[in-house]
Amino acid sequence: METISNTIKVEKVKTSKIDKVDFNNLAFGKVLTDHMMVCDFKNGAWETPKIVPYQPITLDPSAKIFHYGQSVFEGMKAYKDADKNVWLFRPLENQKRINISSKRLAIPEIPEEHFMEGLKALLKVDHEWIPTTEGSSLYIRPFVFASGNGFHASPADEYKFIIACAPSGSYFAGKVKVLIEEKYSRSANGGVGYAKAGGNYAGQFYPTQLAVEKGYNQVVWTDDNTHEYIEEAGAMNIFIRINDTLITSPTSDRILDGITRKSLLEIAKDENIAVAVRKITVKEVVEASKNGSLKEMFGAGTAAVISPISTFGHQGQDYDLPELENSYASILKKRITDIQYNKAEDKFGWRYRV
Ligand code: PLP
Ligand code: COI
Repeated sequence: METISNTIKVEKVKTSKIDKVDFNNLAFGKVLTDHMMVCDFKNGAWETPKIVPYQPITLDPSAKIFHYGQSVFEGMKAYKDADKNVWLFRPLENQKRINISSKRLAIPEIPEEHFMEGLKALLKVDHEWIPTTEGSSLYIRPFVFASGNGFHASPADEYKFIIACAPSGSYFAGKVKVLIEEKYSRSANGGVGYAKAGGNYAGQFYPTQLAVEKGYNQVVWTDDNTHEYIEEAGAMNIFIRINDTLITSPTSDRILDGITRKSLLEIAKDENIAVAVRKITVKEVVEASKNGSLKEMFGAGTAAVISPISTFGHQGQDYDLPELENSYASILKKRITDIQYNKAEDKFGWRYRV
């Protein structure tokens, strides 16, 4: 057992499994690194995080996570540059957001120091797992759940905050076809849509399965009230380009305030791309597709990076997007990934050295 970051204890694996990993063929989130960070909430306080070998965890069958779904998570990435320096992208935004999510689920907020120091200690121990292959990175999954026991439907008295990491390639393999959803809803006013709560994703699986059976990859959610307005997709915010203007829906109670989304809005302005944060109807998008003014649609998120949408389906009909040279998606993707991988100047101060 050694101690790093003054207080964080590290128990290392006896034998690393890294040699068994094919870094040239990485799926998304399938192979986990050697270690994980664990931090427990007990007796009303978060204990000091520790780094331990990646391993199964034991929970009582009455742990409240199983019954009442008290759990939230984050998604981040670590990038390695040509000189083997390790970088995070706006990590304090994730740290703040996990607490915004936690608060909504009545989970005790995690001190910034535990999140950041625990994460940095884990990356130090598992730094060799950060891929250097083009387009790959180390996907980082911080998550918190109710480990406290009992069938009473009330917040647990104990929680676990874990960070696990997976060297990962692209989230989508190939073209992205989306279905604009008109029956099911992801979230509602006053609900938990803005939180990165596990249950938000569970609720999407069935409608997404139905869409996948019809040949789509993701559902694009519309507002729960009228199903007239485009909101976001299952794992990403949505951008739509009509003529030269890039449009994205304002965030709300129902939409995740994506870190990629807000970064792209700033980069787009810096690129002198006209941006509009406004509500956008399905009708407007369908009409724009019919009259040729719909130029691009793409999803944006940590896992998805920028994923251009090739087709959207609506009311039984498919609409194809044109393939443009110098698309906004390609310009923005280059700008943001060049910042993330330390290939270009970071005028916004978003890069964070580990
Ligand atoms: N919307 C949803 C529902 C998501 O799961 C994600 C992924 O994290 C995003 C949007 C994009 O958010 P971010 O850019 O912070 O990863
Ligand atoms: C991310 O982009 O980090 C996410 O959390 C999306 C996830 C559901 C894969």
